Amino acid sequence: MYKPHFSAASDRLNQADANVWAVSDRAHQLADKGEDVIFLCVGDPNFDTPEPILDYTRARLGVGRTHYSPDAGEPVLRRAIATIESKVSPHPCSPDDVVVFPGGTNAIYAVLACLLNPGEEILIPEPMYIGYVPICNALGLEMKKVACPAEDNFAFDVEAIKAAIGPETRVVMINTPVNPTGAMATPEQLRDLAAYCRERDIWLVSDEMYSMITFARRHTSLRTAAEELDNVVVIDGLSKSHAMSGWRLGWAVARGELTGRLAQFAGATIFGCPQFIQEAAAFALEFDSYFVSQMREAYQQRRDLIVERIARIPGLSCASPEAGMFVMVDVSGVAESGLAFAESLLDAEHVSVLPGTPFGPSAVNHVRLTLAADEADLRRALDRIEAFVTRGNRQAG
Ligand SMILES: Cc1ncc(COP(=O)(O)O)c(C=O)c1O
Repeated sequence: MYKPHFSAASDRLNQADANVWAVSDRAHQLADKGEDVIFLCVGDPNFDTPEPILDYTRARLGVGRTHYSPDAGEPVLRRAIATIESKVSPHPCSPDDVVVFPGGTNAIYAVLACLLNPGEEILIPEPMYIGYVPICNALGLEMKKVACPAEDNFAFDVEAIKAAIGPETRVVMINTPVNPTGAMATPEQLRDLAAYCRERDIWLVSDEMYSMITFARRHTSLRTAAEELDNVVVIDGLSKSHAMSGWRLGWAVARGELTGRLAQFAGATIFGCPQFIQEAAAFALEFDSYFVSQMREAYQQRRDLIVERIARIPGLSCASPEAGMFVMVDVSGVAESGLAFAESLLDAEHVSVLPGTPFGPSAVNHVRLTLAADEADLRRALDRIEAFVTRGNRQAG
């Protein structure tokens, strides 16, 4: 019998906690059996890619833009990204500072692969994006988490991050706006943290995938806020802002030697993203303000609807997120944990929400509701959540 041998990286991925999506998997099974399940667990925008972007893509396919592309990305896209990065920043961005990847996930993977060896420490504030865990597992990194507690509305806490940085820390990775909490770092906090990390020869990587979905105030990029850029990396992409998650288009912006190394890494692992997709991305970035603001307004209306309805359900509470595509609901008044709530809500009412636990210890009493569902579904789901909690409250009382 052939006995397969696998790499340590594959073993680490294989052994990792598979329960993250357990509630959602069960929801899909129920839906497959014909049950009327409402999914509030997804992070995939429920808008179609805007029609002009589709038209432009068809045109680029029609002129044969279907060949290999440079490792760092098509010049037209790198220029479009550099223009955006330069717009409000005191630091002009050159196309040479930009490397294109097939999606934010791949950009993060490449950046961390170029900055850290297996066994080295990366510090990440939590609650944090679930997708960091498999990336760190694949790379064999030591993840050290620093809490941004629920009592402070999960606010970005620079002092806590600084205090958690130790002699072993090689990289601090932040996410602003945060998935799942919607918290945003202020420009002053970013400037402060970048300088603190730089003094200690530590990289500061900022995942800014939700940069264009902000409600309360405009996003400030780490690259704009930092005084010096040589230890700073920013990651962004089109998955969320432009409802282009399936196009797989993200990028990293850095300075100096790192960009060349990222391009080499991209050359070794991807060998160029599709030409027509990169050109569509450049088009999208140039002509996007109307679509992006329409989607942002829809998300904001959905956020307001959820926050207003949750406030009226005794035992539940939530803060109104400043940004992003999610609302975190505190269920500690009615359930043992976010997981218990999510499981019984699915059983009783066929509404699928994501328990907070996988996002980090600070979110165990929360569930995450998505804004990526249309208003009618949100209303139906909120009716069901209200009925579920009210019934439970009556029984408890
Ligand atoms: C914070 C954050 N970073 C990165 C990603 C991954 O982005 P992409 O879909 O472009 O790989 C996501 C997707 O949900 C995210 O929420």
